[in-house]
Amino acid sequence: MTRFGGPEVMVYGDLPEPTPGKGEVLVDVKASSINPVDWKVRGGMMKFITGRGLPKPLGSDFSGVVRALGPGVTGFAPGDRVYGTVLAMLGKPGAHAERVVARAKDTRRMPEGWTFEQGAALPVAALTAIAGLRSCGDLAGKTVLVNGATGGVGHMALQIAKAKGARVVAVCSARNAELARSLGADEVLDYNEVDVTAPGRTWDVFFDAFGQAGFSRAARALAASGVYVTTLPRPDSVLRSALGGVLGGKRVRLANMRSKPEDYAELERLIQGGVKVVLETFPLERAAEAFAVCEGGKVRGKVVLTVP
Ligand SMILES: NC(=O)c1ccc[n+]([C@@H]2O[C@H](COP(=O)([O-])OP(=O)(O)OC[C@H]3O[C@@H](n4cnc5c(N)ncnc54)[C@H](OP(=O)(O)O)[C@@H]3O)[C@@H](O)[C@H]2O)c1
Repeated sequence: MTRFGGPEVMVYGDLPEPTPGKGEVLVDVKASSINPVDWKVRGGMMKFITGRGLPKPLGSDFSGVVRALGPGVTGFAPGDRVYGTVLAMLGKPGAHAERVVARAKDTRRMPEGWTFEQGAALPVAALTAIAGLRSCGDLAGKTVLVNGATGGVGHMALQIAKAKGARVVAVCSARNAELARSLGADEVLDYNEVDVTAPGRTWDVFFDAFGQAGFSRAARALAASGVYVTTLPRPDSVLRSALGGVLGGKRVRLANMRSKPEDYAELERLIQGGVKVVLETFPLERAAEAFAVCEGGKVRGKVVLTVP
């Protein structure tokens, strides 16, 4: 991004070579993926934390090969195949580039047999789904509604809830109904046809991957001790989450990704157990086009940028 704005501020060009500082690794990026936070950063919605240093690459998720280590880094060597995240949402240069500097503690060796596309697609979306669902306790036999069930976070949440023994109701547009079924949904609802927050049917867990329902509305369709989990902390959800222990009853959990080894280990076990990442790829130089797909609401799973 060369300035704050729409897709037109994205330019494919050259920047100076990055160098790793203390505790950091320099990675030859093979693939990176797009998350909604990227266009929120680009649009300037997060200027207060990203700062104004421009131009810089966008992108939080990466996979690639370690090129060099900064001072004090142990546990990695040049040539290692790795994946992980960079703090682009805090203003660091992002991973939609040929090289990226990442904190060693946010970098992980990729399991045998994974493709670079897979590794780049997973961290932010899958770790958010894992953190959100873990906060709901035992899911075996529960009915979990996943709102936005075929997007980046949602298609992970759908499959992980199934893997944990839940009955999953997927909410998406009609064009993605078949995809949701193929990922294991027991029932699929079209958000253009059904208001899943209307009183009537109830859900033990309302996993709001889309993030726009809000606790006040979702609570109308929650079981008495149900949980509303959201990827977007709106004021009513944050307040209820803070007061939950005092008020009892229906609860709110905020699904925030964590970059902890135990979360990555759980992610790798889930993939080993059959959870799949759905993705579409674009070469890095067509990043603006790839963003347009995501921002136009036409995403199925993840959009991944590849570096030749
Ligand atoms: N807190 C965190 O750590 C964290 C991490 C990751 C993401 N997030 C946030 O979570 C949100 C989702 O992220 P994402 O990567 O999953 O986005 P995404 O890949 O763009 O997916 C969004 C999904 O929302 C669905 N959708 C659109 N309109 C809807 C409606 N009216 N009702 C229900 N679903 C609807 C879309 O389905 P159709 O294509 O079928 O229309 C799509 O599958 C974003 O706001 C993101 O910033 C937060």
